[in-house]
Amino acid sequence: MSDCINAVEKAFAELANGTAVLPLRIGIKPENGLCLYMPAYLKESQALACKVVSVYKDNPVKYKLPTTIGKVLLQNPETGEVVCIMDGGYLTAVRTGAASGVATKYLANKETNKIAGIFGAGVQAKMQLWAVCEVREIKKAIVYDLSEDAVNNFISEMSNKLNIEIEKAYAPEEVLVADIICTATSSSTPIFNGNKLRQGMHINGIGSHSPNARELDTITIKRSLLVGDSTEACFNESGDIIIPLKNGEITQSHFHGELGEIIIGKKPGRTSEDQITLFKSNGLAIQDAATAKLVYDKARELKIGKEIEI
Ligand SMILES: NC(=O)c1ccc[n+]([C@@H]2O[C@H](COP(=O)([O-])OP(=O)(O)OC[C@H]3O[C@@H](n4cnc5c(N)ncnc54)[C@H](O)[C@@H]3O)[C@@H](O)[C@H]2O)c1
Repeated sequence: MSDCINAVEKAFAELANGTAVLPLRIGIKPENGLCLYMPAYLKESQALACKVVSVYKDNPVKYKLPTTIGKVLLQNPETGEVVCIMDGGYLTAVRTGAASGVATKYLANKETNKIAGIFGAGVQAKMQLWAVCEVREIKKAIVYDLSEDAVNNFISEMSNKLNIEIEKAYAPEEVLVADIICTATSSSTPIFNGNKLRQGMHINGIGSHSPNARELDTITIKRSLLVGDSTEACFNESGDIIIPLKNGEITQSHFHGELGEIIIGKKPGRTSEDQITLFKSNGLAIQDAATAKLVYDKARELKIGKEIEI
């Protein structure tokens, strides 16, 4: 995770410096599902890749396959040749965690002994907590999910892995005692009341990134210094931002800037300890490209993976 945080931080800096090529993701809807194609090129990092992700809701019942399947094709930027095909599931979770790690590093208050609050206890939520623990000294985490099984599984896996105390919350408000919040649920409606947020909190909002779905209410958006992974993605894909914009409750100028702009010092980050900061993550192909290159280089170094003639 710490290596991935470094790689993803560099990718966001490249995006802000203009050395990244990042087309918006392309979607195709065959009859049974949705396929997304996510290409990116990072010139400085020499990472060129395309992730292919499919979301087919009937897969588990009909074909005993997961709903979401992803693979990454990594290319050699010098020759264009595809040099590696790798799994994109775990990679997506780690790079999504890493983006929140970078945002937390730049935006959250710096005192130690922090409490992390996690909404959702699924695949992404675990990586969110791991990433936050890499960049801040976390003494305790509190997790809330509608599924009790998911919470129990989260607590047993992550308390061992991270060696911290993790508490179960029985209502969303119980999570809001935390200093750093991550929202990583599959909910399409707001999951807590933004009036209950305390000054000085930092929030990473990573779930429900489609125009009609949102995890965060308008109050949360209005009370926060709003930073996104990409301006284009936030205004095209994120219901958290698009819904209050459409309702006339915020204007585009409420969007403070991109994470990369804060990393390279083009825009200020947090300016007071009392501010509430919010990072809205939609998930960018630059994160996949940077992480795939990291995985490939490490695999070559350790001589793992299989060479295949095609
Ligand atoms: N930003 C990104 O880069 C990125 C990348 C991958 C996935 N995601 C998003 O992250 C979210 C989580 O993905 P996942 O793979 O972990 O899914 P998952 O199905 O493994 O976990 C989601 C969890 O959210 C819980 N949940 C649903 N509604 C809730 C509510 N109101 N309060 C509390 N918990 C609730 C579910 O019970 C479930 O355990 C999804 O919205 C997904 O689209 C974002």
